[in-house]
Amino acid sequence: MQPHVIATTPFQGQRPGTSGLRKKVGVFQQPHYLENFVQAIFDTQTELSGGTLVLGGDGRFYNREAIQVILRLAAANGVKRTLVGRGGILSTPAASCVIRKYRAQGGIILSASHNPGGPDGDFGIKFNTANGGPAPEAVTEAIHARTLVLEQYRMLTAPTLDLDTLGTTRIGDMAVEIFDSIADYAELMESLFDFNAIHQLFNSGHFQMRFDAMHAVTGPYAKAIIEQRLGAAPGTVMNGEALEDFGGGHPDPNLAHAKALVALTEGPDALDFGAASDGDGDRNMILGKHCFVTPSDSLAVLAANAHLVPGYRSGIRGIARSMPTSQAADRVAEQLGVECFETPTGWKFFGNLLDAGRITLCGEESFGTGSDHVREKDGLWAVLFWLNLLAARQQSVAEILSEHWRRFGRNVYTRHDYEAVDATAAGGLLSHLRILLPELPGRRLGDQVVALADDFAYTDPIDGSRSLQQGIRIGFESGARIVYRLSGTGTEGATLRVYLERYEPDPARHQLPTDEVMRPLVLIARELAQIEERTGRAEPDVIT
Ligand code: G6P
Ligand code: ZN
Repeated sequence: MQPHVIATTPFQGQRPGTSGLRKKVGVFQQPHYLENFVQAIFDTQTELSGGTLVLGGDGRFYNREAIQVILRLAAANGVKRTLVGRGGILSTPAASCVIRKYRAQGGIILSASHNPGGPDGDFGIKFNTANGGPAPEAVTEAIHARTLVLEQYRMLTAPTLDLDTLGTTRIGDMAVEIFDSIADYAELMESLFDFNAIHQLFNSGHFQMRFDAMHAVTGPYAKAIIEQRLGAAPGTVMNGEALEDFGGGHPDPNLAHAKALVALTEGPDALDFGAASDGDGDRNMILGKHCFVTPSDSLAVLAANAHLVPGYRSGIRGIARSMPTSQAADRVAEQLGVECFETPTGWKFFGNLLDAGRITLCGEESFGTGSDHVREKDGLWAVLFWLNLLAARQQSVAEILSEHWRRFGRNVYTRHDYEAVDATAAGGLLSHLRILLPELPGRRLGDQVVALADDFAYTDPIDGSRSLQQGIRIGFESGARIVYRLSGTGTEGATLRVYLERYEPDPARHQLPTDEVMRPLVLIARELAQIEERTGRAEPDVIT
């Protein structure tokens, strides 16, 4: 079968952001838009020709159509074998797992993560390399550069493929294998965690939990693992049916968007444990009875307790966190005597450290936690890790957390988001801060004295690559910090994120409400950046 060569012209704006190319569905539906971007992947990632590709997505609107298009492009570009998750479904961590397990040359994941879906929602596409992780910047830049000069793409003509029946078919010379990614993923989880102990916890009669799949991709994975393999009561997985528009919701597991779940962990009949994952299954939120675990604390707790979990029994090598993530994990690393790395926002920055064996655990404030078992953050993995800890320690989430704080001190943490801000105003706000930076050290702001003020730059310790302008970082002598950065994942205007952290060593103050403790720092942050003057916003849209 001869590929058709189709003439095209470049689209501007096909530069992948923090996590792939994300646009409104309508943008992707324009003739040639998806084809151009995917052809740019094949043109630059030449090892795919003659190799194996993993393909699937979070099941959002346009997932199935996009898969059919990508299969025809892959066949025309010499891919030998494409592994497609049944129904076109692959959670992001499961994709990472199978790229590694089947030694694929790469994977294409269709997802806009936690962004809403449906015909008016978002769609996204990202390329993962052979290590199973998000493509590093050099790769995404090469793909983007190629999109700007592309004049043609290649496609085979093929009938619409049945994505729902397991088995192998062909398009031209390419084998298309529809496989069950849930089985591969569940097997990996079982190799890491003590499934018997978790099973006993569920059968103890005094443990109640809900996992909120938010009508997104983790529904089928969670039902298979939590309900079927671990024996949790049917109905433990809520919103477990994956829908193309996520039931009209915003599949982002945080206090603002998973309100129904949060409510179940409050009040007199509160559950012992609540957890949720996002659109593509890589994020997680952890709740206990009357208690919310910040993602920063979660990373620190997992690190401090990793030796209780079979997969990490022999200890962890090191920890990495993104710059805006609280410094709670640093304190654990120090006590354990292992290395701790501060990387820019974006999971891709952990890849080299994981591949080099320098770290075992990593996490981000943006509800991402993971380890060297794959090269993506992993929502269900974090939930199973917590379940394993609850079973091993026979304590509640709140008890584990307070004990952790007593031992290490508490890094009280909050994030304020100003969404869909005028992009020029947001850029101006950051430039204003950059100009202020040199004169800040030593200055008193409210009750704090500035110790460090910079525009975070990172040199990758493995390959020496530099990443500049990764966020404004203001550290105070007390250990408190304010960080400002613009979101790299939004699709409307700019989103300003302000990350705030205060260190509290005194156990008598550990149970104080976060908003009360953070108020003075919030005011400093607003005034210093002139947030209201520059954006017109007196209050943030979302506080997590
Ligand atoms: C995605 C990436 C994360 C990153 C997050 C930041 O979820 O996978 O690694 O932390 O985006 O998003 P932001 O909107 O803050 O750029
Ligand atoms: Zn995600």
